[in-house]
Amino acid sequence: MSKILPHERTFVALDTTDLAHALSLAKSLSGHVGGMKVGKEFFTACGPDGVRAVSDCGMPVFMDTKFHDIPNTVAGAIRAALPLKPYILNVHASGGEVMMRAAAQAVAEAGEGRPLLIAITVLTSMDESDLQDVGVDSAVADQVLRLATLAQYSGLDGVVCSAREVEDLREHLGKDFKLVVPGIRPKWAASDDQKRIVTPAAAVAIGADYLVIGRPITGAADPVEAADKIAAEIAAGV
Ligand code: C5P
Repeated sequence: MSKILPHERTFVALDTTDLAHALSLAKSLSGHVGGMKVGKEFFTACGPDGVRAVSDCGMPVFMDTKFHDIPNTVAGAIRAALPLKPYILNVHASGGEVMMRAAAQAVAEAGEGRPLLIAITVLTSMDESDLQDVGVDSAVADQVLRLATLAQYSGLDGVVCSAREVEDLREHLGKDFKLVVPGIRPKWAASDDQKRIVTPAAAVAIGADYLVIGRPITGAADPVEAADKIAAEIAAGV
């Protein structure tokens, strides 16, 4: 089993274009969480220098840029990201096996200490009727399992998934396949626009490796206190 410490489970979603705000959060949360997640919003506004600056706060970075393109272009994007030394990188599994293998090969070039490469399966904003609109005639859970299985077969380390998918994926894909789970809300936090939420401890108990948590920490009056409370809840399993 993994030896991830309770506080290391959490990657804090920096959904902002404000570099100063992001850096202030990253500096104060260093040592209290596992790392920071920067997505397309932050990356488009603050670029590689922004990612480097977050990293320089001593925080592992999950670069949630969700690459999806032809294999050569995705491999090139991954190679361009490697000097930023991200802890986690991701691609869309729907880009297919050849694309994922090219991405995995590019990541492997970083050698020991390479980033984890994980896949997006079905965006949680999509339901079965959205899948049908794009020609996929499957239940969401079936399509998630199909794409996650393909990601594992193509050499990826894990997937981003919702809490409701964790048990099924863990059962089919084994204990070492990384499951990174957003939609997390401690009991004391507002649910915001998240519809299907689980607590940090419940997500870990059912088999999540890493949690992506944004507003319950970034919007708290004291983000460090919120992060510490989450780590304590995970440690206590409540
Ligand atoms: O603030 P909150 O905790 O809701 O932030 C969750 C983060 O996880 C955001 O960056 C959001 O884009 C991301 N995410 C999500 N649900 C998914 C995939 C990613 O909430 N299915």
